[in-house]
Amino acid sequence: MLKSKIDKATGFEKRFENIDTVIFEDSSAASKSVASEIADLIKAKQITKESCVLGLATGSTPKGLYAQLVRMHREDGLSFKNVITFNLDEYYPMEPDSIHSYVRFMKELLFDHVDILPENYNIPDGTLPKKKISGYCDDYEAKIKAVGGLDLQILGIGGNGHIGFNESGSLQNSRTRLVALDHITRVAASKDFSGLNNTPRTAITLGIKKIMEAKRVILMAWGEGKSNIIRASVEGGEVTNKVPASFLQEHNNAVFVVDKEASRKLTRINTPWLVEKVEWTEDMTRKAVLGLALHVKKPILMLTDADYIEHGMSDLLADSGPAYDINIEIFNKLQNTISGWPGGKPNADDSKRPERAQPAKKRVLIFSPHPDDDIISMGGTFKRLHEQGNEVHVAYQTSGNIAVADDEALRFANFVVDYNDRFGIESKEAEKIYTKALKFLKNKKASEIDIPEVRYIKGLIRKGEARATSYFVGLQDEQIHFMNLPFYETGKIEKNPVGEEDIELTMALIEVIKPHQIYAAGDLADPHGTHKVCLDAIFEAVRRLKSKPFMKDCWVWLYRGAWQEWGIDEIEMAVPMGPDQVLEKRRGIFKHQSQKDGVVFQGSDSREFWQRAEDRNKETADFYDTLGLARYAAMEAFVRWHY
Ligand code: F6R
Repeated sequence: MLKSKIDKATGFEKRFENIDTVIFEDSSAASKSVASEIADLIKAKQITKESCVLGLATGSTPKGLYAQLVRMHREDGLSFKNVITFNLDEYYPMEPDSIHSYVRFMKELLFDHVDILPENYNIPDGTLPKKKISGYCDDYEAKIKAVGGLDLQILGIGGNGHIGFNESGSLQNSRTRLVALDHITRVAASKDFSGLNNTPRTAITLGIKKIMEAKRVILMAWGEGKSNIIRASVEGGEVTNKVPASFLQEHNNAVFVVDKEASRKLTRINTPWLVEKVEWTEDMTRKAVLGLALHVKKPILMLTDADYIEHGMSDLLADSGPAYDINIEIFNKLQNTISGWPGGKPNADDSKRPERAQPAKKRVLIFSPHPDDDIISMGGTFKRLHEQGNEVHVAYQTSGNIAVADDEALRFANFVVDYNDRFGIESKEAEKIYTKALKFLKNKKASEIDIPEVRYIKGLIRKGEARATSYFVGLQDEQIHFMNLPFYETGKIEKNPVGEEDIELTMALIEVIKPHQIYAAGDLADPHGTHKVCLDAIFEAVRRLKSKPFMKDCWVWLYRGAWQEWGIDEIEMAVPMGPDQVLEKRRGIFKHQSQKDGVVFQGSDSREFWQRAEDRNKETADFYDTLGLARYAAMEAFVRWHY
């Protein structure tokens, strides 16, 4: 049911959004804004000689906020002497000095760098015997009450909508307590704990009731990966314990602070014509018409005037209708995105094709962030480009060594020892390395960084697999490039940001190959992840090289990373595949044996990479089919980046 809700001050139509939501260009601008609100609150309380009571969160989201607060303390003299904090949660059991402890997290990121008094910060204790937890939780709440309640609660949000560790199913009046962690939460945490087996099953969390009692609540979310749950929390018609963050719809002073990517699914961003009058640009029209056709499950050419009018698009119809005219235009455009010649079709009229016909044989450079993204995300296109006579190069940007299991490393080290033995090659060195790796791995603690030897072995395994895929496609050694970008080589899950050396290595390769086409992974889902850093390095390299004459002929195409696909309205080139080509691609992906268990990474999705790739490529083909275009088995999708 629609509720009429116009914000009187701004005229903003809030019919869909039940929580104030502020969208920032990026997470760093958003973090700055939240930091300055906190600083203002602290200072206001200083003037009235009161304590400022903050509820704090951990996880990846608030890291930028804490960095800002530390900077404000150092540069602007912001004092935390009047600040009292209560953290939301802690894993249980957990020693405070463990690298996974939220006590350690908070100290390393905030408390050790500001002048907060040690007795003024509170974090749930993960070391208590179980039977003492309940009493401890009551005391924790009493302590919050004794200092006057939380002035401001900072929150992140889990993929399932959890706040704190109040998972789906939590009661709105839940108290601070020991909880069992959801599978989705554990999967998300497992990358920090080196696997699901080492990931805690329980945690202590502040209850929803105390969060709701905070005088103000700010929930922050970054990245496309959070976009669905943000929409469900903000726009969900009902407040439901399936999505605990939706309880905040009933808080009278809660705000969601999100970056552009996390806002993507909100109605005002995704289908703005349902919220306010829009300018019907080409892109907007295309998005609306394709969305309409998929929504009413009709081929584009079957849409009627009534469909447009009933779905908030009557002004478009008035401007450019009747429906038939708009339909045919959008249909043709979509038709023109389909091309079995990703490198351009030689000697063909290319005025309506996604790629140029000339030069007939192009030099192509495919960047692959990890050693398998090329085949997973664009394996069919990769093969076609090669088979259609283009000079295809592939550049593996990182070693990908972190994603190889310990027993795989041992298996290969062992192989070398056996190999030497069998062929009478004297190599004490190989045996020494094997023994060293074995000793290390046997005693390795969860999350301990691998010794360099083990990392090299793991990197070599992935290198061998990537090479096998490239041979399978038909490339020669000189067309295969291993970049080993330094930002990746921390040995930890957490990588460094893009560095000068990463950019220079990328520039050097582009300059040598002088490609007519660059393919890159345009993954926006994880703003801090490896794909984004790899993309940043390419974008910066291309910008710096832009003025070179060869760059005039260089087009950049973006495929999507391993998790997401481009929206149907964004696709500028769709490369179709037949059933046999789908099987070929599967064989190419199978070369990456060490990744066969790479199944549990995002959400509760437990499909293997090849299954996900196939489902995703089939889904794109299904969309084209539903929209009334030709039926293919699968399609790989690309968007052009104009630099
Ligand atoms: C952390 C917490 C959690 C996180 C949430 C999002 O104290 O209570 O609710 O805020 O899991 O985690 P990130 O920010 O890592 O995506």
